[in-house]
Amino acid sequence: MITKRQKQILDFIKSFKKKSGFAPSFEEIKKHLKLSSVSTIHFHIKKLQNEGYLNKGENQPRSLSIYESKPMLQIPLAGTIAAGLPIEAVQEKETIAIPRNRLSPNGNFYALKVAGNSMVDENINDGDIVLVKEQSTANNGQKVVALIDNYKATLKTFYKEKKQVRLQPANKNFEPIIIKNNEKKITIQGLVVDVIKSRQKLQINKRKLSRTKNKKYSVLPLNKIICGDATEVLKRIPDNTIDLIVTSPPYDKIRKYNGFSYNLHNTGKQIYRILKEGGIAAMVIQDQTKNFGKSLTSFRTIVDWCDNIGFKLFETVIYKKHGAEGAWWTKRFRVDHEYIPIFLKGERPQYFNKEPLKIPSKHGGKTMTGCATRLTSGKTLISKKVTINPLKCRGTIWDYVTCGDGSRLKHQHPATFPNKIPYDFIQCFCPNDGIVLDPFIGSGTTALAAIELERNYIGVDMSKEYCELTRKRIKKEGIKTKRLF
Ligand SMILES: C[S@@+](CC[C@H](N)C(=O)[O-])C[C@H]1O[C@@H](n2cnc3c(N)ncnc32)[C@H](O)[C@@H]1O
Repeated sequence: MITKRQKQILDFIKSFKKKSGFAPSFEEIKKHLKLSSVSTIHFHIKKLQNEGYLNKGENQPRSLSIYESKPMLQIPLAGTIAAGLPIEAVQEKETIAIPRNRLSPNGNFYALKVAGNSMVDENINDGDIVLVKEQSTANNGQKVVALIDNYKATLKTFYKEKKQVRLQPANKNFEPIIIKNNEKKITIQGLVVDVIKSRQKLQINKRKLSRTKNKKYSVLPLNKIICGDATEVLKRIPDNTIDLIVTSPPYDKIRKYNGFSYNLHNTGKQIYRILKEGGIAAMVIQDQTKNFGKSLTSFRTIVDWCDNIGFKLFETVIYKKHGAEGAWWTKRFRVDHEYIPIFLKGERPQYFNKEPLKIPSKHGGKTMTGCATRLTSGKTLISKKVTINPLKCRGTIWDYVTCGDGSRLKHQHPATFPNKIPYDFIQCFCPNDGIVLDPFIGSGTTALAAIELERNYIGVDMSKEYCELTRKRIKKEGIKTKRLF
């Protein structure tokens, strides 16, 4: 809504332009309205601009132009809604201009980009934008944005039934979401009031992008560090080309990393696409603790990548850290582990060599008598003395000493993992002629392990500073003569 004063300004600009053929200056508007300061005019012009009534050229005098078409309303683009995932907020405060007559005069509205196909029969398609009216109640048959358990957002048709709520997709390939009374928390975030079919526009943009920025590499950028957003860079890598991903994403914004953010769901989709059948993605991850509760990001990501992207969870390894000696944590246990979920694309790993990962047996070399084997008949066999192997198969707790990687350059990055982590994964899951990729390369630890093991690598990081750091580290430390492991 604009004020009476703003309407007067708008009318004056119109009549002035009609008479003189050009727009009035701010000084002329001030004089005409008998206002005391030009800054008040600036304020009103900004408001009129935001409301979609007029446009103003940057730093140009007399550059006000009135929109001839219907006034536009700027509404916030709150983010992307994908079935069952938290709304992924847009980074900047983005708004989109909507013709005023598409929205009712009352209420607060926001827009969401749709990801997924669960509402296609209602003509709401992937890439469309839905306009949502903020509201916490809904009638049966209305399309709603619902939040389940405080974090899973979904766009479905709402039905309140006897002992349950049914959120009905409009696609026969999707099951309805049933929420029994008191079983889970469900809140209505708003009603869908309109859909903007941005498909055409998006397709044009996509085509443009694919011709330039997103064009797939015809030759893979092997042994290179690429500066850019992980998801965008991975889009350029052709399908089924990478053998192994070893990475540690910037989880839960624990550290700011020069303020970059990321999207683990979309990165996961790209990782799945570029991995070869039988390829592996190992991700070092932990949860942030806030008010005595864990964020659960690691668990959610595991479930998301398996349920929504198609990975199998091959194993979750616990990476045991040692931390500072004598450190005392006052309010909770000292966290001395991270998770390393190991995701598998396809039926079985294409390459699996755990021989180099063997660990010493506690009693290696000793001759011992084990427990006697009991048969199903109840009888026991006479136990035999055996000599214990000096090495045994590694388990699922991997113990790494974090200090001692001995690189001054590496210490310039705030959150590195031990050199030995990618080193172990490469030996185990990457064939000799394989390619290892780290989409969040940081200080370059994965690249250095690949160089040491004579595998090809690709590293990506959004920060120019860290890309430079990695390149420096590779130059200085990535030489065979200087063993790092
Ligand atoms: C946990 S660190 C990785 C450290 C690395 N494993 C090492 O040992 O040096 C995460 C890295 O992700 C980068 N990053 C953050 N958002 C990104 C994005 N959207 N795309 C690519 N890199 C990103 C940060 O700059 C940071 O260097």
